[in-house]
Amino acid sequence: ARISLRQLLDHAAEHGYGMPAYNINNMEQGLAIMEAARRTQSPVIIQASRGARAYSNDLMLKRMINALVEIYPEIPLCMHQDHGNSVGTCASAIQHGFTSVMMDGSLKADAKTPADFEYNVDVTRRVVEMAHACGVSVEGELGVLGSLETGMGEAEDGHGAEGVLDHSQLLTDPDQAVDFVAQTNVDALAIAMGTSHGAYKFTRKPDGDVLAMNVISEIHKRLPNTHLVMHGSSSVPQELQDMINEYGGKMPQTWGVPVEELQKAIKMGVRKINIDTDLRLAITAGIRETFMKSPEVFDPRTYFKPAYAMMQKVCEDRFEQFGAAGKA
Ligand code: G3H
Ligand code: 13P
Ligand code: ZN
Repeated sequence: ARISLRQLLDHAAEHGYGMPAYNINNMEQGLAIMEAARRTQSPVIIQASRGARAYSNDLMLKRMINALVEIYPEIPLCMHQDHGNSVGTCASAIQHGFTSVMMDGSLKADAKTPADFEYNVDVTRRVVEMAHACGVSVEGELGVLGSLETGMGEAEDGHGAEGVLDHSQLLTDPDQAVDFVAQTNVDALAIAMGTSHGAYKFTRKPDGDVLAMNVISEIHKRLPNTHLVMHGSSSVPQELQDMINEYGGKMPQTWGVPVEELQKAIKMGVRKINIDTDLRLAITAGIRETFMKSPEVFDPRTYFKPAYAMMQKVCEDRFEQFGAAGKA
C-alpha cells in the first residue's frame, strides 16, 4: 500500500529505526528492492531523480510503481521525487502518483548553482503549500553537499574526489535550519553533514570521523518533529569494487560512508538515508561477472538475474542494518 513520507518517517522515529531510500531507474531495481523488503518485512522508500524519470519515462515509471504496489500489497511503499528542482517538477511527480517530493532549493533550478536562503525558502514554501494540499510530504534541503563542482553525479573516473571531512565550512547551520523549517513547514530536511554524492566520497579510509555527529544531534534536538535526511549515504563496499575490477572494470580505489557511521547517525536522529551508488555498483558487479565468466551469453535475463540478486542483497543488508526489517 502507498504511504506518505511523513507517515513512514513518523513511524520510524517512534520506533527508532532508519529508512534507506533507494534510487530507481529500471524494472530490475524495482523488483530487487521490493523482493528484499518482502524477505525482511520492511517498509520501502523508492525515489526517482529527474534523470530517472526521463530515462524510464514518467508513464512507464508510474505504471511500474502501480504494479509493485499490486504485487507487494503488504509492503508500505513511499514513492519520492529525489532532488526536484522546481514547483513544476514536484507538481508533475504528484500527478504521477508520488507520495512525497523533494524540493532541493539549496541549488538554483539549473541544479548546479548554489542558491541563497531567500530563494530556497520561497520555492520550498510554495512546494509545501501545493503538496500538502494533495496529502503529499515534502523534503527540503539546507546546506551544500560536497562535490559541488561535479554536480549531482560524480565524474565516473573518480575525478573530484574529496578528502575525509574537509567540507566543514559547508555543514548546515542549526540556527538557519530552525528558521528554514519555521518558514517552510517541510516534513523532512536534508542537511549537509559531511557526505557527498557518488562513489568518490573519500580518498582515504574513513577513520570513524566522517560525519558531523554534533551537527546532526544539535539539529535533531532543536527540530524533533522534522525528519533528518542524509544524502550521499552509499558505503561503496570494498567487495563490490573488487568484483568490478576483477571482472574487467577500472574503478580507482575509493571509500564511502561506513555502515557503522550510518547506524550512529540513525541513533542521532537521521531517518532517511539515500542510497543510489551502492545499487549501481551491485548491478555492475553482477553483470560484469557474467560477461567475463560466460562471454558467449547474450540473453539479458542471464546477466540481469545475478545482477538483480546482488542488488537485492545490498537492500536486505541495509534494511537489517538500519533496523527497518520487521517494521512493515
Ligand atoms: O542524487 C543523485 C542521485 O544519485 C541520482 O542521480 O541524477 O544521475 O539519476 P541521477
Ligand atoms: P549515493 O551517491 O551516496 O548513493 O547518494 C545518493 C543520493 O543522495 C540520492 O539523492
Ligand atoms: Zn541526493
